[in-house]
Amino acid sequence: MTVEPVRQPLRIAVLISGGGSNLQALMDGCASGLIPGQIVLVISNNPDAFGLERAKKQQIPTQVIDHRRFAVRASFDQVLAHALDEAGAELICLAGFMRVLTADFVHYYAGRLINIHPALLPAFPGIHVQRQAIEAGVRFSGATVHFVVPEVDAGPIIIQAVVPVLADDTHESLAARILRQEHRIYPLAVRWFAQGRLRLEQNRVHLLESEEDGELALIHPMG
Ligand code: GRF
Repeated sequence: MTVEPVRQPLRIAVLISGGGSNLQALMDGCASGLIPGQIVLVISNNPDAFGLERAKKQQIPTQVIDHRRFAVRASFDQVLAHALDEAGAELICLAGFMRVLTADFVHYYAGRLINIHPALLPAFPGIHVQRQAIEAGVRFSGATVHFVVPEVDAGPIIIQAVVPVLADDTHESLAARILRQEHRIYPLAVRWFAQGRLRLEQNRVHLLESEEDGELALIHPMG
C-alpha cells in the first residue's frame, strides 16, 4: 500500500502535550519548504503546553482538548477525531503527545498517524526511556519515527537516528542529544509522507527512490 497524500500541500495536524520543540521543527520544515505541507491544527490535551504558544506565534489554529474532562478514553478520542476531521487533517503527527490512543482511533487513522519516540524502537518503549537506556548500559540510543499501531511505541519504522550514549551521560544530557536528532528526522519523515514516497508492506516501510541526494532512512552519529 502506498500512503498517498490526497492533495498538496498536505494538511497536517500535530498533537502535543508539552514543550513542542518537535512541533517547532515541523513548523520550520513547512516554512522552509522542506515539507510540502501546512500545519492546519495543533491540539494539546494539556492547557499549559508551551507548544500552544509556539503555534499561536505562527498563526496556526490551536485547540485544547483536556483529557481530564472525559470519564473514558473512547470519548476523549471521539472529540479528538471530530476536531481532526473538521480541520481536514490528512496526516496526524504525535509530537510529545502523552496520551494512549484507543485501538478504534488508531485503526480509523491507519497509515496516516505517526509518532516520534526518543529511543531506537523496539528497544525501550514507554516512558523514562533515556534513563532506561543508561541503566541498560547500551552504547547507542536514538530516535524513531514510526506509524502508530494500537500497541504503544510499536509500528512500522519510517526513519531512525542513532546517537552515542557516553560514559558520563545523565538522562538529561542523553535526552538533549536525542532531541537534536528528533528535530532532524521528524521533518524528513513528514516530507517523505507528503511526497507519497512511503510504501507500507506488512510491518516494513519502504522509501521510494527520488532524484534527491543525501536522503537516508538512517541518521548516524557522523551524519
Ligand atoms: C520528545 O523527546 C518526544 O520524542 C517524546 O517527548 C519529547 C517531547 O518533546 N515523546 P517536545 O514537546 O517535542 O519538545
